[in-house]
Amino acid sequence: MTLRRVNVVILVLLAVAFLIIVQRNLLNLSDFLHKEHPDAGMILPFESELSPDLRLEALRKGEEIPVLITAAGDRLGAVIAAMNSVYQNSKANVAFTIVTMNDTVDHLKVWLSKTNLKNIKYKIVIFQPELLNRKILKDPQTLEATKPLSFARFYLPVYIPEAEKAVYLDDDVIVQGDIQELYETNLKPGHAAAFSDDCDSASAKGIVRGAGNQNNYIGFLDFKKEAIKKLGMRANTCSFNPGVIIANLTEWRNQNITQQLEHWMELNTHEDLYSKSLAESVTTPPLLIVFYKRHSSIDPMWHVRHLGASGAGNRYSNQFVKAAKLLHWNGHYKPWGRTSSFTELWDKWFIPDPTGKFNPVRRHTGDK
Ligand SMILES: *[C@@H]1O[C@H](CO)[C@@H](O)[C@H](O)[C@H]1NC(C)=O
Ligand SMILES: *[C@@H]1O[C@H](CO)[C@@H](O)[C@H](O)[C@H]1NC(C)=O
Ligand SMILES: *[C@@H]1O[C@H](CO)[C@@H](O)[C@H](O)[C@H]1NC(C)=O
Ligand SMILES: *[C@@H]1O[C@H](CO)[C@@H](O)[C@H](O)[C@H]1NC(C)=O
Repeated sequence: MTLRRVNVVILVLLAVAFLIIVQRNLLNLSDFLHKEHPDAGMILPFESELSPDLRLEALRKGEEIPVLITAAGDRLGAVIAAMNSVYQNSKANVAFTIVTMNDTVDHLKVWLSKTNLKNIKYKIVIFQPELLNRKILKDPQTLEATKPLSFARFYLPVYIPEAEKAVYLDDDVIVQGDIQELYETNLKPGHAAAFSDDCDSASAKGIVRGAGNQNNYIGFLDFKKEAIKKLGMRANTCSFNPGVIIANLTEWRNQNITQQLEHWMELNTHEDLYSKSLAESVTTPPLLIVFYKRHSSIDPMWHVRHLGASGAGNRYSNQFVKAAKLLHWNGHYKPWGRTSSFTELWDKWFIPDPTGKFNPVRRHTGDK
């Protein structure tokens, strides 16, 4: 009898001790969960951190849609407007990876956390400029014109290692459709990416003509160079615009796309393979080579471009631009600048800078 009573007492004591341990552990766990991730693991060769608001109670459920975008310090308002437009026009579980330079991180964080963008799921990744050593020309003049961040798209699987499929967007875009639809773009078997071709879309016609040959390969590559000739590509092949990319990252890795792109960048620093009249981004030629006849297509309404070309305002009707799923202000005249077209469609998504550092130039500000 007494022995049994002792047993009961011991059991009760054990149960109490067990409950105390469980409770302490649970408290510690919730403690941990409510702490900011101070140093989310390094992804070499980049630094990254999770958004402070990325907590357990994820605001949007369902399949995650990874979107890579860059944030350049001198035009931070661009990425803010682009991200806001993506987020507001979709109910999808969008997860942004924002690639930026080290000295822009703090400004970006303030802008994202002090405005109603704070619910957006994001990860900031720091671009290491050394990555481009020996891959772009050292000529200081070229370096000035070369925006290192524009090469971030070459490293998609490195920045988004956990994903099988991802979307890349230039920062000078506004998304008016549901990003889920773009994400679901079908890639043909064996294709690592989809782009918008420069000659099949309504948006490309006419506008490009003024810019010379910038809608076929000869506008981007020097076909007199041996290294280009050897590839046997047709010079009049329609080019594509890499401002919007849907990528199968598994294929990208299997085909070593990143290494192939780096190879052509390096070769260009010795042999000057790009067209002399290359007007747009220096990231296009290597992509044209690597994806020659090996890419899928994006619905033209999902990449209505050249809104930054001079005279763009006269070439598109308001109805057409409103119906577009994605608008791209590639070209010289950006929607945060003074003389761009369709700025009202961009302003709709822009969120003012809480630090006051970035301000779109507006002709009539303060005028009566
Ligand atoms: C719980 O946290 C306290 C103080 O933060 C610590 O002393 C204790 O070791 C932690 N217990 C466990 C089981 O991690
Ligand atoms: C970023 O800058 C901070 C402070 O200026 C420095 O401590 C840190 O090492 C830098 N990180 C990278 C990846 O360059
Ligand atoms: C990506 O490519 C791999 C390898 O070809 C294929 O198995 C997979 O289904 C593709 N994924 C998507 C989302 O297209
Ligand atoms: C990719 O690179 C790996 C290692 O460098 C190599 O073994 C493989 O054959 C390459 N694949 C292609 C498709 O080039």
